[in-house]
Amino acid sequence: MNFILRLLCIGSALVVVSTATLTFDPDLICTLVVNGTKMNDPRACNAWVQCIDEKPVNGTCSGDLFYDRETQTCVDSSSIDCISSEPCAAEPNGFAADPYTCNGYYYCINGTGSHGTCGTGMNYNPATMHCIRDFPCEEKMDPDSLCNILPDGVFIKDTNNCNGYQMCWKSKIINGTCPGTFLFNAQKAECVYPQTVECTITESPPVTVASGICAKAGDFISDNETCNGYYYCHELETGEFTLEHGVCPDGRFFYESDDGGVCAPRSKVNCPYDRCVDLGNTTIQLANESDDDCRGYLICQDGTSIGSGICPTDEYFDEVTQRCSTQVISYPACELSSSSSSSSSSSSATTTSETATDGSSSADSEASSSTTINGS
Ligand SMILES: *[C@@H]1O[C@H](CO)[C@@H](O)[C@H](O)[C@H]1NC(C)=O
Ligand SMILES: *[C@@H]1O[C@H](CO)[C@@H](O)[C@H](O)[C@H]1NC(C)=O
Ligand SMILES: *[C@@H]1O[C@H](CO)[C@@H](O)[C@H](O)[C@H]1NC(C)=O
Ligand SMILES: *[C@@H]1O[C@H](CO)[C@@H](O)[C@H](O)[C@H]1NC(C)=O
Ligand SMILES: *[C@@H]1O[C@H](CO)[C@@H](O)[C@H](O)[C@H]1NC(C)=O
Ligand SMILES: *[C@@H]1O[C@H](CO)[C@@H](O)[C@H](O)[C@H]1NC(C)=O
Ligand SMILES: *[C@@H]1O[C@H](CO)[C@@H](O)[C@H](O)[C@H]1NC(C)=O
Repeated sequence: MNFILRLLCIGSALVVVSTATLTFDPDLICTLVVNGTKMNDPRACNAWVQCIDEKPVNGTCSGDLFYDRETQTCVDSSSIDCISSEPCAAEPNGFAADPYTCNGYYYCINGTGSHGTCGTGMNYNPATMHCIRDFPCEEKMDPDSLCNILPDGVFIKDTNNCNGYQMCWKSKIINGTCPGTFLFNAQKAECVYPQTVECTITESPPVTVASGICAKAGDFISDNETCNGYYYCHELETGEFTLEHGVCPDGRFFYESDDGGVCAPRSKVNCPYDRCVDLGNTTIQLANESDDDCRGYLICQDGTSIGSGICPTDEYFDEVTQRCSTQVISYPACELSSSSSSSSSSSSATTTSETATDGSSSADSEASSSTTINGS
């Protein structure tokens, strides 16, 4: 088991974090923005790309019209500046600036450009179409910059941080981060519960931790937040430790053991955090609760518990059949832990049958009556 964890950690350390794109990559951008987003295609003046279900779809304006990303319409070519990686895109005949350098230009014939470079110390002035000594090189309007491609106000998932997003506003990029432990969901363009976002990016930057949390290098410890999350203790050359976050495979929960921590089948692990993690993705599912003598159940949706229920007196919850049963159920996952077994039979879980917090009506109706699952 420890071996499996070790492999997972090596795997996640090798995840290559894609850095800022140097050239237009619509396949990547379409995974970072909300469904339906339309953007300039910087390879042409009259073309756009729309993201449908995370895939780019091409479109072009008719006639001589240019695409305007802000109004998302085709407009007269003289009414906007076309910023294109293709230098002859705006004007197929004549001189054009090199979009990527200060001292370069193109001479375009029928849309095909020949590159030229101004003499030493001179830069190309697009307004006069001359090379001019010491002409101030303004910051180039990079055609591949996201803010020359996407309209203002579109959320863009940060490729380096699962909780980060960016937005263009008046051609400047604004960075943002989700509050608390929320992560950014590109398709919804909103901050959501961390369980609902696949985050393959290793935690960065690594923070060194106080001595004592990691006993020795290579230990696995609970993340103290989720049933399936753990940290790997990574020792630095300085002797300090950093923590690398990892998640157990579906159906397994983490627990600390004498040999450093394992991902064990969830039914074997008594865990004080939300046991709904990984459950309820497509339909509502029920899960055992910890520490309740196997009497109650959680109602899970999108990896979080949205309510709970309790079986009728003298019945036990059996997660396998998803219903209450008179047969005594005693699984490590839900049996009373030694600390609470001394208390009376009314454990905390049996006192409530409705703890739904996010108002899902279908869940409330299931949670409010314990007999619904018994009778079904
Ligand atoms: C994305 O948008 C397209 C076009 O509007 C639509 O047909 C499709 O169902 C949408 N996909 C999702 C996942 O909403
Ligand atoms: C979209 O247009 C670009 C540039 O013209 C082209 O390279 C690409 O293959 C096109 N994609 C599709 C799916 O047609
Ligand atoms: C430009 O293209 C047109 C049609 O394709 C052709 O008739 C014309 O000779 C070309 N002009 C030059 C300067 O190559
Ligand atoms: C936004 O974040 C990126 C890296 O994610 C950084 O390079 C850039 O300087 C930041 N911009 C601002 C305005 O904070
Ligand atoms: C988790 O909690 C335990 C007990 O309070 C503590 O010893 C441990 O250091 C905590 N782990 C982390 C990663 O904070
Ligand atoms: C449920 O969704 C989460 C997040 O998208 C994913 O990590 C997990 O593998 C899914 N679980 C199942 C059983 O499909
Ligand atoms: C509940 O316990 C049963 C029996 O051990 C197990 O098969 C099942 O996977 C558990 N369910 C959850 C959600 O922990």
